[in-house]
Amino acid sequence: EEEESVNALILAIIIINVAKVGKTSLIMILVSEEFPTVVPCRAEEITIPADVTAERVPTHIVDYSEAEQTDEKLYQEISKANVICIVYSVNTRSLLRRVPLILVGNKSDLVEHSSMETVLHIMNKYTEIETCVECSAKNLKNILELFYYAQKAKKEVCTTLSACVRVL
Ligand code: GTP
Ligand code: MG
Repeated sequence: EEEESVNALILAIIIINVAKVGKTSLIMILVSEEFPTVVPCRAEEITIPADVTAERVPTHIVDYSEAEQTDEKLYQEISKANVICIVYSVNTRSLLRRVPLILVGNKSDLVEHSSMETVLHIMNKYTEIETCVECSAKNLKNILELFYYAQKAKKEVCTTLSACVRVL
């Protein structure tokens, strides 16, 4: 029986563009077992064999560097990953600030049913999701509502909205 390999991608909170939180250092410690004094932008990809992991799952760890890699590469890695670790630095207050997220279900013109039931489950689980809206750019449905919700949620959401929509 083949064990499922877990691809863990370690990245910073790309949505709000924060670097230098210690992603690469965390990965390097797995190999060297000590805090590295010299840190490259990006750690080499490593695979930890099943027999040395606590859960006996072979784990492939991928670092991401905003300086060295493109957004496209990041999306590629996200689509392959089974686990995404979002690393932040606890001394950076702005990262702990609660930024409201809005889930935007676009292309509602293509289906009869609504995704709202599923989305409500997600909203119950993740309190940072402020609201959700289904819309259609093609039919111009709920477009004004979407931006109204965004502005209403908090003024600051406006600056991060485009990034959030991109990620969601
Ligand atoms: P980029 O790839 O440039 O986005 O950075 P990164 O997130 O990979 O962070 P990196 O591992 O390069 O660490 C950035 C700086 O934070 C380095 O100077 C590290 O030595 C330092 N650093 C990393 N982890 C810790 C930590 O736990 N405590 C402290 N005090 N410093 C740390
Ligand atoms: Mg790095």
